Amino acid sequence: MISEITRISSPQEDSHIGTLLFKTSAEHPLMQKIAAIENGSVLDLGCRFPALFFPLYHRFNFKEFWGVDLEIESEALEKFIGNNPKLKEAAPKDFYELYRLIYKQVGAAHQPIISDRDLFYETFGEHLHLGTDIRDFFEEYPDKKFDFVGMVNLLHVLPDYEAMLQCLSRAEALLKPNGIFYMRVYNGHHYDIRELMEHITHRYESGSLSYFEQDGVLQYFKFLMW
Ligand SMILES: C[S@@+](CC[C@H](N)C(=O)[O-])C[C@H]1O[C@@H](n2cnc3c(N)ncnc32)[C@H](O)[C@@H]1O
Repeated sequence: MISEITRISSPQEDSHIGTLLFKTSAEHPLMQKIAAIENGSVLDLGCRFPALFFPLYHRFNFKEFWGVDLEIESEALEKFIGNNPKLKEAAPKDFYELYRLIYKQVGAAHQPIISDRDLFYETFGEHLHLGTDIRDFFEEYPDKKFDFVGMVNLLHVLPDYEAMLQCLSRAEALLKPNGIFYMRVYNGHHYDIRELMEHITHRYESGSLSYFEQDGVLQYFKFLMW
């Protein structure tokens, strides 16, 4: 059972995992564990614009970047830009332009940016399975193993609790022994988030879980196994 459970006091102070990986001190044991991975591989399930890739590429020694999402690039771009006025005004045409636009905002200004579109797509595009259902991906690559598997805001958009548990098991099966597993899950009307959070705390032996609750209602939780 997980012993490290903390309450998030304000979602404003809470970062996306990609930003956290850029900003957390290199002294942190998690950062040291990630830094020890040579030629690492990451899988981002429900990646949309795969922001998780960039700290793992720029700050650590990851070489293989796999992502899966139902949306194709133009749809993912539109959803990611959403109502952000700055991004709307800049109107990036593809992931490469978006990467260049947001890169410095996540605290990575000291890192060299990829300034070549072909290199960007060679590095991050080769295994980007866009327009792909995760269930088809799981069928196609049952034996592939990754050092880092992320599911950021994916589980709660799946249709029901059964589908969520299935995705959890299939994702876990793609993780190397001792790998890093991360998920962020929001509340939804179609399932009981407290039941899922309790399931997670009993299912895993180690890791840290944090949650945000407002007016007695659990809004979201994050689980990191490492
Ligand atoms: C809320 S978004 C999260 C995007 C991204 N991970 C983030 O946190 O910014 C959920 C993503 O899951 C994708 N998705 C939903 N169901 C899916 C499925 N069955 N197979 C693949 N992707 C799916 C959606 O297209 C969407 O991009």
